[in-house]
Amino acid sequence: MTKNLNNTIEVTKATQSKINDVDFDNLPFGRQFTDHMFECDFINGKWQTPKIKPYQALTIDPSARVFHYGQAVFEGMKAYKDDQDDVWLFRPDENFRRINISAERLAMPAFPEDYFFEGLKTLVDLDRDWVQKGQGNSLYLRPFIIATEPAIAAAPAEEYKFMIICSPAKAYYTDAIKVIIAQNYSRSADGGVGYAKAAGNYAAQFYPTGLANKKGFQQIIWTDANTHEYLEEAGTMNIFFRINDTLITAPNNDRILDGVTRKSLIQLAEDNNIEIDVRRISVSEIKEAAINGSLKEIFGAGTAAVINPISAFQHAEELFELKPQETSYATLLKKQLTDIQSNKAEDKHGWRYKI
Ligand code: COI
Repeated sequence: MTKNLNNTIEVTKATQSKINDVDFDNLPFGRQFTDHMFECDFINGKWQTPKIKPYQALTIDPSARVFHYGQAVFEGMKAYKDDQDDVWLFRPDENFRRINISAERLAMPAFPEDYFFEGLKTLVDLDRDWVQKGQGNSLYLRPFIIATEPAIAAAPAEEYKFMIICSPAKAYYTDAIKVIIAQNYSRSADGGVGYAKAAGNYAAQFYPTGLANKKGFQQIIWTDANTHEYLEEAGTMNIFFRINDTLITAPNNDRILDGVTRKSLIQLAEDNNIEIDVRRISVSEIKEAAINGSLKEIFGAGTAAVINPISAFQHAEELFELKPQETSYATLLKKQLTDIQSNKAEDKHGWRYKI
């Protein structure tokens, strides 16, 4: 994938890199940031000249609408380094499309495509030493937009800031996780913002996820808000179930994030002639499948998490544990996906974007 760019960014380089202070073998997710950041302000109805500058704190008025009404959206993407030291992004066009879908839902202005791609390319190139080679290593990129206008009337802002910050990362979870299926709390509702990557979607999960953590579960599988009978997504990941040899995942709707890893896995499953069913799947169906032994695997899929196995789920105080599979779809698809991402396998769908 290539894009024509115009070189419109003002770049101020950091005088000294922080890279030697980082222990790349020991990286908690999202705690260390690279030397530079990308920033572009929306003022007087127009996105201004974008800037790349040394990573630093922002000064924002306390009345900025983001602090009061949560007018904020974000993206998650990763850069990978191959054995020849080339750096690649994975399907950045999907993140560009989605941040503007999210922005529209939160009444924010769309960000221009050339600024997005030029910003990513210049920033990641400048900080390319931070992209480590090797299995599981990546540079996590966090584009986001916040409402900066100093005004606390409950209305969309007239001023915004689009930024990209970068953080060296390994996978989000270090092991298989256990999940609780939601029966009371909901992540999103019909007609709501569940499909958008709105910051508030994540904040709203923290309290119920904290309750699950106290019981020894790492995540919640969210169900539809009306009946709590249909399995939707896991908040930090979309979710796949393997019943016998069929892979099942919920169809996108206005409550579920349209995940880039999710859609890539659907394609890879098809490429492997794995039967893939994109359909509603109910709690009773997976409980029954767990009891009769046809439920072989559950896994989550997301940019930060990559593909993460789920070893057990709980519903109505009943715990169901899954046996590890000798031929796991999660393992197969993860290997194929990460090989494409890091330029170890043919990119027949044109997903890689070279920095
Ligand atoms: C991502 O996978 O990029 C996400 O945005 C999930 C986030 C909670 C880390």
